[in-house]
Amino acid sequence: MTSILETYEALHGKSRTLASRAARVFPSGVTHDARAFSPFPIYVERAEGPRKWDVDGNEYVDYIGGHGALLLGHNRPEVMEATRAAMERGTHFGSSHDLEIAWGQQVIEMVPCAERVRFTSSGTEATMMALRLARAYTGRDRVIKLQDHFHGWNDLLVGRTREDDSTPFSVGVPASFYSTLTVLPSGDPRALQEALAPRDVAAVILEPTGAHWGSHPLDPSYLHEARRLTEETGALFIMDEVITGFRMAPGGAQERYGVTPDLSTHAKILAGGLPGGCVAGRADIMDFIELRDSDHDWNDRQRISHQGTFNANPVCAAAGLTALRLIAQGGECEAADATAAALVRGLNEMFRAESVPGSAWAVSSMWHLNLGYDAPMPVEVEWDAMSEPQGVEASLMRPLRWALYNHGVDLMGNGGMVSSAHGDREVEDTVTAFRAAIGDLRAEGLLA
Ligand SMILES: Cc1ncc(COP(=O)(O)O)c(C=O)c1O
Repeated sequence: MTSILETYEALHGKSRTLASRAARVFPSGVTHDARAFSPFPIYVERAEGPRKWDVDGNEYVDYIGGHGALLLGHNRPEVMEATRAAMERGTHFGSSHDLEIAWGQQVIEMVPCAERVRFTSSGTEATMMALRLARAYTGRDRVIKLQDHFHGWNDLLVGRTREDDSTPFSVGVPASFYSTLTVLPSGDPRALQEALAPRDVAAVILEPTGAHWGSHPLDPSYLHEARRLTEETGALFIMDEVITGFRMAPGGAQERYGVTPDLSTHAKILAGGLPGGCVAGRADIMDFIELRDSDHDWNDRQRISHQGTFNANPVCAAAGLTALRLIAQGGECEAADATAAALVRGLNEMFRAESVPGSAWAVSSMWHLNLGYDAPMPVEVEWDAMSEPQGVEASLMRPLRWALYNHGVDLMGNGGMVSSAHGDREVEDTVTAFRAAIGDLRAEGLLA
């Protein structure tokens, strides 16, 4: 009998050839850590709506969705049309243009905390800018982040602690950077209260649904506590909405949970599937980027500078503006949420019927998976157990993904991002693929 891996290799011959070329060009053969895959990743040729096709002609239900950028699915016609029209006008003016104003205004209309906006080229740059603004505004250096919360590859925020050492570190970043970073356990309001008590903190930054887009869920009550405690102690509250923005609601997690931060960082959906990011927030903070005529002291000693060749690139602005307008009309976030809920119910029903040790859950249109242990199942869709979900057992991760590729599903980590282009057919195909993949894992004795 052919093994899961042998089938994966047999189905992906052209991908293997490309991977061997890539191995001579890129470290690990890839251009993003999350795309590294053993023995080699799939190479994608084209995508449409909720699906993509690889160079060997295999079709997948896509749950990566451009690393979360594609709430509207691949190639939404309105976005494609606006992008084409912008391309015809020129790809980069190096000057101000009308589309950037409309794009910025659209962000202000949608995001509750947004009184002013500044565009960047990525989410990493947005979190970098948000911290610099917070430090300039408060005159304080210390920043608090939560354990495992991801904010891009920003020098300060990639700092993490070890089990035996609470001083954050990250290879390649000077240890001195981390004298101003405190990493706290996620979801512990008392730890936050103690860390804020000396009133020396510039900002608290977090992912509003918990680390790694909710793989480690965060109770929304923590957001309300963080809002209250930062306000009391003069620190700024930054919500990193790079994933959740324009996904959990047109106004993101801050709208959905009714908690307005001082600043929020955005990217991904913001730019409609093209590159782009922004910081949005209170005018009195954002205006620390303002240049003031003849005020040399302000310009040289108080404001923060901000450049960036591709900030508000007109093609990205056209795609982003069109995507945001579609989302603001309503229905897109709800459709994606409803499909994610149907998928979670479908997977859990199948797991129950087939006595699979695992469970699925979702928050909004982001779904996650436990596999390989007797995981609690949510009563509805969101994680509601007292214990932390453990995800997919490490030894199952690769075989599960090989098997799912063999049956036509591309996961993101332990789950995925659902778009408004996904529907009943994708739910059905995914549950069928999972049933087959579980059968394959069992056949190889990998799963009970
Ligand atoms: C919550 C969060 N913040 C920041 C980033 C960094 O964004 P980018 O990849 O655009 O630099 C990411 C990327 O996945 C993210 O998930």
